[in-house]
Amino acid sequence: MWGIELNRQSELPLWRQIYQSLREMTISGQLKASEVLPSTREFAKALEVSRNTVCEAYEMLIAEGFVISRQGAPTRVAEGLCVENPPSSASYENIESVRIFSADFRTGRPDLRHFPRFLWQQMLHKASEEMPLEQYGYTGPQGIPELRKEIVAWLFRSRGLKVDPQDIFITAGATHALHLIADLLCGEGRKILMEDPCHTGMLRTFINKGCPIVPIPVDEHGMQTDYLTNRENVCAVYVTPSHQFPLGGILPASRRATLIRFARENEVYIVEDDYDSEFRYCGEPIAPLFAMDPQRVIYVGTFSKALFPALRIGYVILPRQLHKRWRDLRTHADVQNPPFEQAALAGFLRTRKLDRHIQKMRRIYGERRRVLLESLTETFGSEWRAYGDAAGLHLAIDFPGRYFEEEFRKSCLHNGICVTPVEYHCIQKGRHLNKLLIGYGHLEPAEIRNGVQLLHDFMKETI
Ligand SMILES: Cc1ncc(COP(=O)(O)O)c(C=O)c1O
Repeated sequence: MWGIELNRQSELPLWRQIYQSLREMTISGQLKASEVLPSTREFAKALEVSRNTVCEAYEMLIAEGFVISRQGAPTRVAEGLCVENPPSSASYENIESVRIFSADFRTGRPDLRHFPRFLWQQMLHKASEEMPLEQYGYTGPQGIPELRKEIVAWLFRSRGLKVDPQDIFITAGATHALHLIADLLCGEGRKILMEDPCHTGMLRTFINKGCPIVPIPVDEHGMQTDYLTNRENVCAVYVTPSHQFPLGGILPASRRATLIRFARENEVYIVEDDYDSEFRYCGEPIAPLFAMDPQRVIYVGTFSKALFPALRIGYVILPRQLHKRWRDLRTHADVQNPPFEQAALAGFLRTRKLDRHIQKMRRIYGERRRVLLESLTETFGSEWRAYGDAAGLHLAIDFPGRYFEEEFRKSCLHNGICVTPVEYHCIQKGRHLNKLLIGYGHLEPAEIRNGVQLLHDFMKETI
């Protein structure tokens, strides 16, 4: 009847199948307002089910207000139920995250094909099997002690940092950390000084929190600290000193000193976002700014690039005076991170699997960077110049005399090329028009070569 097909093998009871079919018909408008439903007897006969089954479905529809039943009158569809179909779910998604590109130069993407997925699954399984029962309860907003201890040991062996596990607070990634930092420091019109250009995602995080932003220009060595003069009502400076996003510079020692002096004199915090410094291709990772003043610098780390973004684990190293308020904010926001991934990550760190994975990926990414530079020379000759330090998963390229704006990005996308003009990440527009960002970490050498060729051909056409 009415095209309702019942699945007698389904775990869903028959009355619920009838109820759901009728409900969908009222919402979609297939059953119109005031339309009369068949009697339960008639319906039961047509569907070859017991009358009780149909009665149960009708009672549910009546209880939820989809149909109306009055004594002595037939059961009718209620008024005002029809809802227009929403656009298909694909149109809600960010087109760039679902499309397959001929040249995919998106930034910030580690190569997930090399992630030791099986090993991780085993560690996750082991972690949940061995997890003490009390960790199934509320384990606190700071993160499980095993993970904090392992992060401390890892920071020491990878960056020479000495940190107390009590100062580590686990978060759901760097973005989440910045949300909490904004709640912690901003408010009442207090401003945040940000590198310009900087990652639009991080910029949006602060803007969405209502923080007024003051852009501080960046050159190929990072934030131009000369511009940090006498700032009223400032609460923090956001920097990526180990590998500036997006231009790639390492902040020189003299600028670091200026920054620390500025923070002390003006009693503001420095938010150090160390998002990908594991991947440096000449020399060891840069010593964090945090080491210069642990009471003025809030260090933000993430495992999104070293492991995988969906892990959603990052951390902050927090000055003591901020601990109490952080605990309060986190407890009353999302309470804590789940313990299972934390425990698996602690195991991954303890057994040095993370160190080995990073070592392997550093070799692979370093080689891809070399292939990218070589392909650029082969296709573009001397028309370009690489910006920044040999690190990370992307490269900023300067093409003197060329201009790349939003229109260029869109027409590239239209032609299957995903590449980001630096301008996209600029707060004050117009100062980096001739630079493009090329993400290469997630691409095989052949994909890089092919992508560079496609980009070259497209740029030639659009001269
Ligand atoms: C500069 C910078 N900070 C932070 C992040 C985000 O890290 P997470 O995934 O931990 O939120 C990114 C991501 O690409 C980034 O480029």
